[in-house]
Amino acid sequence: MNEILKSIGENGLVPVVKIDNAADAVPLGKALIEGGLPVAEITFRTDAAEQAIKNIADELPEILLGAGTVLSVEQAKKAIAAGARYIVSPGFNPKLVEFCVKNNIAITPGCGNPTDIEMALEYGLNVVKFFPAEALGGVSAIKAMGAPYTMIKFIPTGGVNDKNLMDYLSLPNVFACGGSWMVKDDLIKTGNFTEISRIAREAVGIMLGFDLAHIGINCVDAESSLATTKQFAEIFNFALKEGNSSNFAGTGIEVNKSMGLGKNGHIAIKTNSIQRAVAFLEKRAVEIDMNTAKKNPSGQMVAVYLTQQIGGFTIPLLEKI
Ligand code: 3PG
Repeated sequence: MNEILKSIGENGLVPVVKIDNAADAVPLGKALIEGGLPVAEITFRTDAAEQAIKNIADELPEILLGAGTVLSVEQAKKAIAAGARYIVSPGFNPKLVEFCVKNNIAITPGCGNPTDIEMALEYGLNVVKFFPAEALGGVSAIKAMGAPYTMIKFIPTGGVNDKNLMDYLSLPNVFACGGSWMVKDDLIKTGNFTEISRIAREAVGIMLGFDLAHIGINCVDAESSLATTKQFAEIFNFALKEGNSSNFAGTGIEVNKSMGLGKNGHIAIKTNSIQRAVAFLEKRAVEIDMNTAKKNPSGQMVAVYLTQQIGGFTIPLLEKI
């Protein structure tokens, strides 16, 4: 897959921006970076779009910068010349798609029905925008379209917000979600970039859904593991479950039958998406030891350790199931 598209999928969220004053572009970009979401789709809905793209491309190259509401080849050329790295259109415009495909420019055209999707397939595309998502039937429409079009991934946009975000992102054929709720017009106009950072951080938090999975305690041998597990099980009435290399008291306490990797044990953190969590953590200079990655039979990563220990504990990330 095209690297830009891959990166959109790993980021998982695409803030759709309408900017009236190009001078707001860089502060907005900085706010998104601060919120842990270095992605922006600047829409050609205002005269400032081209200059806004240029300002961000020049000053904040770490932003995954795209141009949205691109309605013509002409606009696409302007957007790319200004520094946009991908093109988004609300509908399926064959001329625009052909231009992008021929010139190796990533494009996610809006597709709202099977006919649009089949046109996208004709052009070799397998990631499309689903717009306007909520008005077209939202989650159930995407589920239904996933049946015949198993090769297509969607970026639902239009009516997506913090409340329904996970309904979309938990669908296997949803590639990422777009929306303006993270970058509201009035916040940009009033220069309230702190609030934009907060909303972006909140959206990333919802998407990743980091939470404590369990704590793993190291013990020297099977006997001491069982004794320790029993203590927790008896005192708190947790169900005791014996395993091969460890025992569990409830779901939150694991007791290893040997001195496992961490000095004290491990603290497992679960997330909605390991793939996205890894991309997010690496951007924040948190190293992941990819040699520890465990995959399920379909090749999807389901567990991986941070390289560092925290407080004498190794930190495995687990995908929520
Ligand atoms: C778009 O162009 O992608 C939409 O206008 C964004 O929709 P939203 O404002 O409902 O998020």
